[in-house]
Amino acid sequence: MNKSRPWWQEAIGYQIYPRSFYDSNQDGVGDLNGIRLKLPHLHQLGVNLLWICPFFASPMDDYGYDVKDYYQVDPMFGTLEDFQALLKEAHSMGIRIIIDLVLNHTSDEHRWFMEARKNQYSKYHQYFIWKDPKKTDEGKILPPTNWRGYFSDSAWHYDDTVKQYYLKIFSKKMPDLNWENKSMRQDMYDVAKFWLDLGVDGFRLDALAHLAKDLTFSNSTLPVAADGLVLDASKFSSLPRVFDYLKEFKSEVLLKYPDILTIGEVGGGVSPDMSLQYIHPQNGYLNMVFNFDTCWENGAFGSDHKADHEIKTNVVQLKQNFMKWYQTVSPLASLPIYWLNHDHPRVVSQYGSIRYRQESATMLATTLLFLYGTPFIYNGEEIGMSNVDYEKLTQFKEVSALQYAKQASEKMDESTILRFLRRTSRVNARTPFQWNDQPFAGFSTVEPSLQVNGNYREVNLAKQQKDPKSIFNYYRKAIALRKKPKVMESVLTGPLSLVDPLNPDVFAYVHEGRPALLVVSNFRGFEVEFKMNRLINLVLLHNYPTIEKRGLNLILRPFETYLFEVE
Ligand code: GLC
Repeated sequence: MNKSRPWWQEAIGYQIYPRSFYDSNQDGVGDLNGIRLKLPHLHQLGVNLLWICPFFASPMDDYGYDVKDYYQVDPMFGTLEDFQALLKEAHSMGIRIIIDLVLNHTSDEHRWFMEARKNQYSKYHQYFIWKDPKKTDEGKILPPTNWRGYFSDSAWHYDDTVKQYYLKIFSKKMPDLNWENKSMRQDMYDVAKFWLDLGVDGFRLDALAHLAKDLTFSNSTLPVAADGLVLDASKFSSLPRVFDYLKEFKSEVLLKYPDILTIGEVGGGVSPDMSLQYIHPQNGYLNMVFNFDTCWENGAFGSDHKADHEIKTNVVQLKQNFMKWYQTVSPLASLPIYWLNHDHPRVVSQYGSIRYRQESATMLATTLLFLYGTPFIYNGEEIGMSNVDYEKLTQFKEVSALQYAKQASEKMDESTILRFLRRTSRVNARTPFQWNDQPFAGFSTVEPSLQVNGNYREVNLAKQQKDPKSIFNYYRKAIALRKKPKVMESVLTGPLSLVDPLNPDVFAYVHEGRPALLVVSNFRGFEVEFKMNRLINLVLLHNYPTIEKRGLNLILRPFETYLFEVE
């Protein structure tokens, strides 16, 4: 470990969606004890930093992102003691844990909201954002603005008791908090301190860019859809006021815990330059941000009407996206790198190929793990789990997918909606982890709420542990290599540059350190010739048994990848 660097720059991260990881008490839902029991797997893989998605008490409308009580573990996931045991055991293995803190909204079943809707004069009413309805000449009530939320419908929901609308940019069971309210902010700081005092190593801060809203609450002037609504991120994303809130959060909480890691989810709308407002080491507030610039470079996002063959990874753009973040952020701050999270499709389906599962999953591992930044592997990625094979819309049991299907059914047939959800839905990333070839993939002995992917007899950890050439063992090897001091140094000090940046099929980059490291990855399911302009010293990683060359050029077979040490 290089002492001049914060610990998280050298960490290898791993994200766990607790509901789908491992069910220790056989009720069909993954839990905290399940994570603890599977720590040996994570240790064997070589990761040393976990981000665990929410496990607070919740009605589970958005599977835990709708928090009912920030001080309790939901009984479905276990108890506070279970969490403490998990933390202790993880720490004893050298694994740190950051938890997912939801600051933008609560559940409508949170005590604050229950009070808020019961009594307009209670202090909790001001913890949320209420507006009177608009009225038509006929006396019909309408939402205060034309804002659409992230789950397809209006960003407002009418409350019959209070006779006002409340803002909810996600589901109607997730009312947005009013960050203008000082007392609410103080209550939230107490929540953060509670978990930090318990020993967590930091936070992933959910939906952070949305804390500030356009306080004029005026209509969006962007073109509206047939339903009169428009998703206008400028109404509730990265507005300047968010930095005032973060300034206070930093001084009241974060500065008191100097060794913690904070990663803010800022979504797709934040550029690398803007991100520095969040993470600049002197003037910023957090350590890193998660954006989605590298997650959707195959046109799948919003691709309802596209056929499957129209979906193709834009490799040039993908490379540029990684580079623009590297160039702007790395001289000053830290950068996380990842292919997906629990809101995205599986990466083997997204950028790889089911037909070439082994080749493409290992190619994606190599490409990601040796880029500059702190890698985050998403649970199941290390065994090449892929998108769902569901045949019916009812199998997509998840609030945003169901809301989308409801709206889309007015203009699309079921098979088109199904094709789109199978390609893009976040359900893809949330099916149970495939531990072995036993019923329900060894995740549980009872039927889980989200059905296990039908390929679990083929794709599972137990099988891959026995096979030295498996995706899992490749990940292990790649992570072990990435952690070697010399390699780590080279990866983190670079300088990193793309090789043949305009090559439409190959993702190649070099770190000009000692040793100089070159990654060459074919992102296609066909053969590609690649011009080598460096002398190879060593092949450190490779996912095919033989090397094929034509003269000095490499012949790259489908999804072939190399990590070389070069002159
Ligand atoms: C974030 C989470 C997502 C959740 C949303 C609302 O984007 O990643 O899963 O639905 O916030 O909390």
